[in-house]
Amino acid sequence: MLQQEDLGQATALLARARRVVILTGAGVSAESGVPTFRDALTGLWQRFDAQALATPEAFRADPALVWGWYEWRRTAVCRAQPNPAHLAVAALEARHPGTVLITQNVDDLHERAGSKAPVHLHGSLFAPRCAECGQPAPTPDAPADEPENGRRLPPPRCARCSGLIRPGVVWFGEALPTDALASAVEAAASCDLLLAVGTSGLVHPAAELPHVAVRTGAAVIQVNPRATPLDEVAEVNLRGPAARILPELIGT
Ligand code: OAD
Repeated sequence: MLQQEDLGQATALLARARRVVILTGAGVSAESGVPTFRDALTGLWQRFDAQALATPEAFRADPALVWGWYEWRRTAVCRAQPNPAHLAVAALEARHPGTVLITQNVDDLHERAGSKAPVHLHGSLFAPRCAECGQPAPTPDAPADEPENGRRLPPPRCARCSGLIRPGVVWFGEALPTDALASAVEAAASCDLLLAVGTSGLVHPAAELPHVAVRTGAAVIQVNPRATPLDEVAEVNLRGPAARILPELIGT
């Protein structure tokens, strides 16, 4: 049960803040029906390990398996709609110019809710590129239906070098896009309030951003139904689903 006292404290911190950073993770899209990363392997994918699929080694070993999994996720995203949490984030940005939105999500639900320029730390499902030469590739039409017999899908080939096309996301063991990481760290180091929403706080370097903010004197508010390692750094922990809590906090 959300404590009214905590909500009051968070509202007061937000009202005083001049530079706000919002850091979102998979939890912000959960109520749009996009499974969180750690809950992602339902249905046909139940017997796989998400962490094992999201690696360059997995793609090299079985490109059709990995491409198929990401296309399945992209289909789910294309069918989903932004939820009240995405809309509240966009409203906060409109109200507080200069707010920086940093997301670990590879979906486009923030953009579709009206956020102008989210910093995508882990890339995007909508930016495929050649695994060999890096050439950007067109995003294929999302498959119209959930596939019936498994989900292997051979990736398309690069128009320039015939290499395999890979999802434009950051995999485990890969570096984050340099510009995105630099702007995220800069924003976290110069904000006075960081709002961490729906992130497990387990995947680095994204998980360090709230620590960066606290070290430079900012307050952290966390929105998550469950305890996370960020509980320790958060001045206020609002326990509950983002689509309910954020509209209350932001007043949308
Ligand atoms: P995870 O799937 O690891 O964690 C989702 C978090 O959202 C958990 O802490 C849940 O408790 C929380 N959550 C679930 N439902 C929620 C709701 N309705 N409202 C608010 N929070 C909710 O997702 P991330 O932390 O985003 O990276 O994962 C970070 C990265 O791990 C992903 O970007 C991906 C994955 O490995 C890469 O692929 C590199």
